[in-house]
Amino acid sequence: MTKAKQGSNSMWGGRFASGPAAIMAEINASIGFDKRLYQQDIAGSKAHATMLAAQGIISKADAAAIARGLDQVKAEIASGTFSFSTALEDIHMNVESRLKQVIGEPAGRLHTARSRNDQVATDMRLYVRDVVDALDAALAGLMLALAEKAEAHHATIMPGFTHLQVAQPVTFGHHCLAYVEMIARDRGRLRDARARLNESPLGAAALAGTPYPIDRKVTARALGFARPMRNSLDAVASRDYVLEVLAACSICAVTLSRLAEEIVLWTTAQFRFVKLSDKFTTGSSIMPQKRNPDAAELVRAKPGRILGAFMALAVVMKGLPLTYSKDMQEDKEPAFDAFDALALAIAATTGMVRDLEPDAAAMRAAAMTGYSTATDLADWLVRTLKMPFREAHHVTGRIVALAESKGLRLDELALADLRSVEARISKDVFKVLSVEASVASRTSLGGTAPRNVKKAAVEWLKQLKDR
Ligand code: ARG
Repeated sequence: MTKAKQGSNSMWGGRFASGPAAIMAEINASIGFDKRLYQQDIAGSKAHATMLAAQGIISKADAAAIARGLDQVKAEIASGTFSFSTALEDIHMNVESRLKQVIGEPAGRLHTARSRNDQVATDMRLYVRDVVDALDAALAGLMLALAEKAEAHHATIMPGFTHLQVAQPVTFGHHCLAYVEMIARDRGRLRDARARLNESPLGAAALAGTPYPIDRKVTARALGFARPMRNSLDAVASRDYVLEVLAACSICAVTLSRLAEEIVLWTTAQFRFVKLSDKFTTGSSIMPQKRNPDAAELVRAKPGRILGAFMALAVVMKGLPLTYSKDMQEDKEPAFDAFDALALAIAATTGMVRDLEPDAAAMRAAAMTGYSTATDLADWLVRTLKMPFREAHHVTGRIVALAESKGLRLDELALADLRSVEARISKDVFKVLSVEASVASRTSLGGTAPRNVKKAAVEWLKQLKDR
């Protein structure tokens, strides 16, 4: 074996007389962050070596030595005894170099019919696939926590808002299930992205394929990919799957931020809708009375960095000619940061949902403000007096104005007051003016009637527990 010159890279230093400038090594090295791909890298190498032996490209003995050596390297990295070298640039060369120390000459045969370009593409697809699976499981846990709250509070009344103004009474369970639905779609987007990304780039080699008689279907299957990617240029050049998962993560982070914002609002002294325990609040170093919802605020903030990661990578990829360019190494840090941030946000949200206790009395009292059953009054006029809805809307508006001038709720007005606006109103109307009657009446599909909510919560719980 020809020796690389002193200081040049032992992996590709053949034509190099000297090593890189310090600053070149610093900007070039990715080991600081791509070491987290080690399991995927080693899985890919084992699948590749096994296939090379099966195809008669390397000997069975060499493949066995490679597999054994890779297992040892993996154990060293897992236990923290592996020493990573910046001079070896990235995870691929760190692993291969250590493999050489462990098994000697056969290590040099592992890179046959392969390039770091298809290798990193394979590693990253495997990694992103694992991330999607972990996020999916975590989101299922959050849905379960929300569905359990929903079942417990299927009849707990709170004000529903539009424009953050009290609109109509709803139940807290209904509100929780709205998030269950949104998160189910967030998971659907991740799952769709997973199905599209689950193809193997391995065997595309540097960019053009390889003259060796490799079997890409075998390595694809061994790594759990649905199939090999059809075009070698696409295989090494594409990072759209990272963007797609980051887009799905961004939308999910936006969903979580809305719930987080509601928790921030609901825990204020002005709302008092829910209470978070000491586990999910912090005190102030100066104001002894404070209980701040820091976790909710941080979840509310996460879309900043997660959307930022999408933006960062989209800008990196924009206008890049095919195929691989080192620019693409910049996919990892933002993506890893975004994935970590979302995982943490999901875990914190799940913890808060489990922790929070609704204050049913405060929520009910708030639901009774703002003439929240005015629509029920209008509907009564339509149903009982056969009034056109537009006219009923107008009459109700005048009654609301009257109640406002007297400082009373609708259900506190005297029948005579109501009749001063519309003479045909009977005392029967009071039956529809309570918040309980209001929610109970909303039995249309998807409506907030406690019976609906209970049924929907039970259905979700069954579905979430079955799988
Ligand atoms: N560290 C590189 C990356 O993350 C691996 C691929 C390097 N390939 C190359 N030809 N330099 O993209």
